[in-house]
Amino acid sequence: MTQPTSLTSRAVRIEQPGGPECMQLVEVAVGNPGPGEVRIRHHAVGLNFIDVYQRSGLYSLPMPLQLGMEGAGVVEAVGPGVGHLQVGDRVAYAGSAPGSYCDLRVMSALTVCRLPDAISFETGAAMMLKGLTAQYLLKKCKPVEGLEPGDFVLFHAAAGGVGLIACQWARALGLRLIATAGTDAKCQLALDNGAAHAINYNTEDFAARVKALTQGQGVKVVYDSVGKDTWEKSLDCLAPFGLMVTFGNASGPVPPFAPALLAAKGSIYLTRQTLFSHITTRERTQAMADDLFAVVESGAVKIRIDQRYPLDQVQQAHRDLEARKTTGCSVLLP
Ligand SMILES: NC(=O)c1ccc[n+]([C@@H]2O[C@H](COP(=O)([O-])OP(=O)(O)OC[C@H]3O[C@@H](n4cnc5c(N)ncnc54)[C@H](OP(=O)(O)O)[C@@H]3O)[C@@H](O)[C@H]2O)c1
Repeated sequence: MTQPTSLTSRAVRIEQPGGPECMQLVEVAVGNPGPGEVRIRHHAVGLNFIDVYQRSGLYSLPMPLQLGMEGAGVVEAVGPGVGHLQVGDRVAYAGSAPGSYCDLRVMSALTVCRLPDAISFETGAAMMLKGLTAQYLLKKCKPVEGLEPGDFVLFHAAAGGVGLIACQWARALGLRLIATAGTDAKCQLALDNGAAHAINYNTEDFAARVKALTQGQGVKVVYDSVGKDTWEKSLDCLAPFGLMVTFGNASGPVPPFAPALLAAKGSIYLTRQTLFSHITTRERTQAMADDLFAVVESGAVKIRIDQRYPLDQVQQAHRDLEARKTTGCSVLLP
């Protein structure tokens, strides 16, 4: 029988959903890993918009809740039945269960991947959830007519964490990515990172501009994580039989709609995706991570960390993310 530990960790927890002020840094006990689990000491923790949904209650989770879906660090202990990790391994993960906002945690090893030596902890913590998302969006969410080099796609919020990775990866795949973002400076950042065109959706009618850029044809795929504010116009950007990928709700959830709308917009296809359907097995997770590691190690995709916060500044980190003040990725440093 494993002995109880006397280990503790600082952890960011909420008792009830609410604003940034509901997050408190507390001391928690950390045990030994059980079957299929590892204990990880974090060197960096990733910040994601899903953390905001979980904190605010948009995504309903049991309370109290330790937040955080992404991190990187060193394996300190390995539970029975974990074959792919050893004590001392440098690792990074996007976890399906929250809890990464801490110094030390025990978690399922399923989505934990060994980090290549050339990739830093900060980069690992910043890129796993966002990079694996860009991976499945660009490589697995294909329109029925396929996606070929030269094809146009539209990517909203393209100067954000997922967005800047997608801009670079799309360029590497030969796609012509039309970016949208909320300021001219963010549009320039998307262009600097591989977008073929950029539209400030706060000052321009993005659907009209997309039609003009594509000579009236529309794009093959729209990747929409903004939700409520962009949903309807996004449908007008698609070519017939195109694919609408809704994968987030930064402005609020997509409202209910009648399926006949999809016919009216050109017999388009619609999917609502989550990374967590893609990383349910070790093999699939590792294959996606290997693809991400390769594109980062090749230099084709650079992980831009534009904000760093000490763990005890987590409230400010959430305020900045929700106020659209951030670009690229943000990390919390234990
Ligand atoms: N389903 C999945 O598998 C999955 C996985 C990862 C992420 N996501 C989603 O992808 C999106 C990007 O995630 P991220 O962590 O990289 O965040 P992020 O893009 O760095 O930040 C969100 C961005 O959304 C834009 N936005 C538009 N309307 C907004 C509003 N009303 N309030 C706040 N932001 C607004 C802002 O950019 P502008 O100022 O340029 O508009 C903001 O910077 C999020 O919606 C997230 O939930 C989904």
